[in-house]
Amino acid sequence: MPQRYALAAAALTLWACSTIAAADETKPSVARGRDIFMKVGCYHCHGTHGQGSGAGLKLAPDPLPTEAIAQFIRATTSTMPAYSEHILSDSQIADIAAYLGSIPAARSPDAIPALKSSSQHVKPQR
Ligand code: HEC
Repeated sequence: MPQRYALAAAALTLWACSTIAAADETKPSVARGRDIFMKVGCYHCHGTHGQGSGAGLKLAPDPLPTEAIAQFIRATTSTMPAYSEHILSDSQIADIAAYLGSIPAARSPDAIPALKSSSQHVKPQR
């Protein structure tokens, strides 16, 4: 009898875990978005934090709305390659947008004590 209960408990746990995982997949995820951003190569041109590089524009902080990002990714005909639904689903684009939206703005140099104090001591030489 106790074995039966253990089996039922294990089955219930499995069911609960799969339900939670399924529920999580429906909303955009920052962690998933970061993985996808690296996996499909966005970072090659836009930098690992969307900071931009010689090959791609700055995407974050303060990214475009998800809808605009999706439209651009699907339809671009310029330097950036377009990504079809076969490569990147709409929900994966929403994940990328969540990742880009999670990237904080750089701190002002004045908020970093070491930079603040050194900038007060460095005087231009004549
Ligand atoms: C081969 C380099 C390259 C790759 C890879 C790349 N991009 Fe781009 N991206 C660019 C360039 C260059 C632009 C500027 C527009 C243009 O010339 O195509 C751009 C523009 C954009 C824009 C529009 C930005 C704006 O402010 O107008 C978005 C959004 C964007 N990329 C997102 C992505 C995402 C997300 C990925 C990955 C799925 C990606 N890019 C992969 C090079 C790249």
